[in-house]
Amino acid sequence: MPGHFITFEGGEGAGKSTQIARLKVYLESLGKPVLVTREPGGSPGAEKIRALLLSGEVKDLGPRGEAMLFAAARADHIDTTIKPALERGAWVLCDRYADSTRVYQGEAGVDTDYLKLLETAAVAGVRPELTVLIDIPADIGLKRVARRSQTDDSGGPDRFEGEALNVHERRRRLFIDLAREEAFRFAVVDGTKDPEYVATAIRKAVSDRFASELNIADDIHAATRKGTR
Ligand SMILES: Nc1ncnc2c1ncn2[C@@H]1O[C@H](COP(=O)(O)OP(=O)(O)OP(=O)(O)O)[C@@H](O)[C@H]1O
Ligand SMILES: [Mg+2]
Repeated sequence: MPGHFITFEGGEGAGKSTQIARLKVYLESLGKPVLVTREPGGSPGAEKIRALLLSGEVKDLGPRGEAMLFAAARADHIDTTIKPALERGAWVLCDRYADSTRVYQGEAGVDTDYLKLLETAAVAGVRPELTVLIDIPADIGLKRVARRSQTDDSGGPDRFEGEALNVHERRRRLFIDLAREEAFRFAVVDGTKDPEYVATAIRKAVSDRFASELNIADDIHAATRKGTR
């Protein structure tokens, strides 16, 4: 497909939404068409499932049942939003994707092979070329989220935010393990640094991964030629 697919992962309050907005501005400044989307959700059907999942209304299904709903939402999101955008040539920036299911439902005890089956069925071959993991200690991220909910109307913590600190810490560890196992597609950035620093680290990861698509190699060569003249 002519477009490019970048996903953002990390715990609550790591800075995913903040950094996606910044990367969008950067890519658009290079003349690239960008689509920002999120999971669970990102399409009308999947947003309905998001509301069920995050309200805790379907918590009684248990982690396996919830994992199925995440997969159903993902399949719809891909079919109706992500794939068409990639076919149009857009750069798709997705706030959470299949790695979040591996981590959250994996932490909740769902069997890894079962999660793999669901993932394979849901993603239908649409996998990120780059995954940015914004890593942050759970307590720092949760404090940011608590501060944010005092200043906006997002309400209290959702079904997944509201869990014990040790659960959030285990998720952090699982994200890091995943990034090590699939290092070929991951860039891990330190989310405790200031937003400008994090944005620069992410731009560098994107430039490294997509040098030819962004014509960055040409620019560097041009700069080198200039410097030696
Ligand atoms: N590098 C940073 N340093 C300090 N504060 C930050 C940083 N990045 C984001 N914030 C602030 O922390 C809060 C959480 O950031 P943001 O909403 O981008 O995180 P998120 O990963 O999208 O969170 P969620 O998991 O809840 O969607 C916001 O109020 C944001 O302004
Ligand atoms: Mg967010």
